[in-house]
Amino acid sequence: MIIKQIFNGVYSVDGKLATLNLVKGKKVYGEDLVRDDGREFRMWTPYRSKLSAAIMKGLKEFHIEEGGSVLYLGAANGTTPSHISDIVGAGGRVFAVEMSERSMRDLISVCETRENMLPILADAHRTELYSSIVGTCDVIYQDVSAREQAQILKANSRFLNKGGYAYFIIKSQSVDMTKDPESVFRQELAQLEDIFDVVQTLELEPYDSAHLFAVLKKK
Ligand SMILES: C[S@@+](CC[C@H](N)C(=O)[O-])C[C@H]1O[C@@H](n2cnc3c(N)ncnc32)[C@H](O)[C@@H]1O
Repeated sequence: MIIKQIFNGVYSVDGKLATLNLVKGKKVYGEDLVRDDGREFRMWTPYRSKLSAAIMKGLKEFHIEEGGSVLYLGAANGTTPSHISDIVGAGGRVFAVEMSERSMRDLISVCETRENMLPILADAHRTELYSSIVGTCDVIYQDVSAREQAQILKANSRFLNKGGYAYFIIKSQSVDMTKDPESVFRQELAQLEDIFDVVQTLELEPYDSAHLFAVLKKK
């Protein structure tokens, strides 16, 4: 088996991405577990996670660090949040905001075995509902299937320190199904230019379509 470290906490196991399992022996969504020399890796397919897809597509910088705190907006049932939980490790924190009660049920069961993940049932427009819990964070990861995606990130940027990073995934169809994706991406990024500089943008084909993965740095 050939294992290489790609970024902090992110590995290639025989050419496929993986994170080190924080909760040994436990799967989150049916992913494969691979053991090597006392370590256990959770395989991280780019077809199930846009962060994994972005790494496969050439993400240049990775700002999620061991011990860091991440505000995750649109946590769904915890697939990508669980890998971020592996990366930040036991000393880090993942604040997982999700507004669907149905997804929240699955998310809570993931959080029960991962002490560094905190589930928050809330609409991410309503930052006042979780401001006292989150405080400040190092990174915001946003993947919400909502219409006002830039507005949600703008509201949540209050939690990010100057120079902090946001991974902003734009789903064009949620914003406007009638416009072509390119113009939706431009329109959403333009709304954020007073707060963020764009560091990198990536399209995620063939893993995911009609999404733009943007890396932003707070001014
Ligand atoms: C594409 S899914 C997220 C998948 C997840 N990021 C992953 O990779 O595992 C988008 C999620 O955003 C949630 N969502 C949509 N609008 C939201 C809002 N205003 N506040 C919080 N969550 C929202 C949806 O309920 C849905 O679970």
